[in-house]
Amino acid sequence: MTAILVIHGPNLNLLGTREPEIYGNLTLEEINRRLVRLGRDLHIEVRCTQSNHEGVLIDTLHEARTWAQAVILNAGGYTHTSVALRDAISAIGIPVVEVHLSNVDAREEFRHNSLISAVCMGKVTGFGWRSYTLALQGMAELLAEKKSSIMPDKEQ
Ligand code: DQA
Repeated sequence: MTAILVIHGPNLNLLGTREPEIYGNLTLEEINRRLVRLGRDLHIEVRCTQSNHEGVLIDTLHEARTWAQAVILNAGGYTHTSVALRDAISAIGIPVVEVHLSNVDAREEFRHNSLISAVCMGKVTGFGWRSYTLALQGMAELLAEKKSSIMPDKEQ
């Protein structure tokens, strides 16, 4: 079964109460529940994790290489600062989708620069919690397409 890891970075554990006018009212748990439910509909195993620590995020990316076919990553503030996270994304060799709840390009200038965009497969930003579900849907379609081109008789 196809497996996708969703990684939430720093401060996203506070969703629901953290600046709801920017990040919305859903808690992280509610977002994760929606992602797992959507994964079930798409026949994809979705696992979700969160950390406030750069090193833990890097370890999690390394480990994902052993079991996940793709990663959906909201790196939070590390998006704009972390060369180490960017290097980890380059190193693991599985597709990573960059996700942001808010439209980072419409916010403060320091959020316009992402150190990870260039090594990610794509980016979804500004759709609130739907940024994650849109990323999951897109990634699921790409993985299904890849699978059916390797095994043409076995669609999905
Ligand atoms: C964020 C945007 C980042 O700039 C910010 O530091 C976050 C959340 C988002 O999801 O909109 O923590 O990644």
